[in-house]
Amino acid sequence: MERFLPVLSSAKNVVVLTGAGISAESGIPTFRGTDGLWSKLKPEELANFDAFLRNPELVSEWYKHRREVTRVAKPNAAHTALVEMEKLFSHFTLVTQNIDNLHRRAGSQNVAELHGNIERNYCLGCGKRYDGEDFDRNNSFQCPECGGLIRPDIVWFGEMLPSDQWRTAEVASSEAEVMYVVGTSAVVYPAAELPMTVKSHGGMIVEVNIEETPLSEFADLSIQGSASEVMTEVVEKIKEYRRVAKESK
Ligand code: OAD
Repeated sequence: MERFLPVLSSAKNVVVLTGAGISAESGIPTFRGTDGLWSKLKPEELANFDAFLRNPELVSEWYKHRREVTRVAKPNAAHTALVEMEKLFSHFTLVTQNIDNLHRRAGSQNVAELHGNIERNYCLGCGKRYDGEDFDRNNSFQCPECGGLIRPDIVWFGEMLPSDQWRTAEVASSEAEVMYVVGTSAVVYPAAELPMTVKSHGGMIVEVNIEETPLSEFADLSIQGSASEVMTEVVEKIKEYRRVAKESK
């Protein structure tokens, strides 16, 4: 990492792409791997529109359960490090595949949520929004206004990404000098395209993961370790490098 510090410290445009691994240390299960959500449940059974229409009560209960898990979870040191990192760069975009809202709760500002946000819901009939904890206290999956079905505002399998969030992610990636790819298996498209967009114009990829992924061979720097430890260290090293560089001027 020392070798790359000059570039990491002087970059003007920085993007971070995060996945479920960054929230693992907050106690939120990832999707793949032996303990992952998709090892116990099949995405086709719960995470798509047809499953919701077939059994809205079951799918809604599952998301209610996941909201309970995410609400008791707290942002960890990796989320906090990214809040600090945002303050260090003039153009900083945090692109997340996570729906758990932990980046916003930690205090990150410029966040593109590619797969939606589990705290938001809307009625398929009248479009009324049902956001935050009040929804679980006061409502079920049926809209009190029109009787329509209320669904979570997240991207299910087979659905398009929210176009404004995707556009933000694409533009930021096309300008990024450095992209950190943190805690994602990097196998789900179109999010997995973004590191390639960075590489295609000569940007640098820094991967942070506890294990190798399909992206590792393309990464300029692949750091194996937990997101919280590595990202805290990266931010500290950038600050230190800048401090020393300023002093030696
Ligand atoms: P995955 O479960 O596919 O991958 C999680 C990654 O995090 C793996 O590569 C782990 O090695 C890594 N990891 C686990 N703990 C870590 C830690 N403490 N520090 C660093 N890395 C760690 O999750 P995603 O890549 O986010 O989409 O999955 C992408 C999308 O697939 C999700 O957004 C979701 C899912 O289907 C939708 O639901 C639309």
